[in-house]
Amino acid sequence: MNIDVFTLFPDWFAWFVSQRHVSNALALGSSLECVNFRDHTPLSAGQVDDTPFGGGAGMVLRVDVVDSALRAHYGVDPVRLRDQRRVIVLSPGGRVLDEALVEELSCEPALTLLCGRYEGFDERIVEHLASDVLSVGRYVLSGGELAAMVVCDAVLRKLPGALGHERSALEESFSVALDGGPEYPHYTRPAEYRGWRVPEILLSGHHGRIEEWRRERSRERAHAAPRVGEP
Ligand SMILES: C[S@@+](CC[C@H](N)C(=O)[O-])C[C@H]1O[C@@H](n2cnc3c(N)ncnc32)[C@H](O)[C@@H]1O
Repeated sequence: MNIDVFTLFPDWFAWFVSQRHVSNALALGSSLECVNFRDHTPLSAGQVDDTPFGGGAGMVLRVDVVDSALRAHYGVDPVRLRDQRRVIVLSPGGRVLDEALVEELSCEPALTLLCGRYEGFDERIVEHLASDVLSVGRYVLSGGELAAMVVCDAVLRKLPGALGHERSALEESFSVALDGGPEYPHYTRPAEYRGWRVPEILLSGHHGRIEEWRRERSRERAHAAPRVGEP
């Protein structure tokens, strides 16, 4: 998979690409490249944004800047780029990322992620240059960089070899193996701590019954009432 992240803060990704599962995915043939909008702006003094028409606070990322950065990087009219690869605007109001969407994106050969800042994007970027608008949750981050990392992390760990232990990805929360439900609870040593015992079944060595117990706990969690502190 080839992922390009367009951002005003490419340095943020240096740490991210050094993380094990990301570097594994890159070593196995994927790529993650950052492109700075500012390097391709047609405006003077590195300008990339402007005040909103109609007034209001903040600055808006300009359509001519994004158009020019995409054109410079891909060498095609950006309007046609979305026929070749998913061009994803990151925005709090977009389609919320979930396991189904991660699965879908992980089957794509290439993704382009556009990170906003300040007030976000001129809407013509969404209308004419993007294929998708994606949110990592119903809250507002200061910029699209962390959102892009969330997308990259979730997608790259799906690729064969990225985790180094394939089984953990097969049976984890929202997987087909668990009928799309949350994962069952895990325990490790000590078997007892401050009187808190690990469920006996897990110490029994009965693999079939352990398997059944785990499925049951996963189903329970799927139907569980909200946990303490949740609305
Ligand atoms: C401060 S936010 C802009 C928020 C925008 N004015 C609004 O109210 O929807 C700046 C940028 O951060 C990114 N961003 C913030 N929250 C996000 C989220 N939950 N999911 C994806 N991207 C997000 C987007 O790229 C956005 O353009």
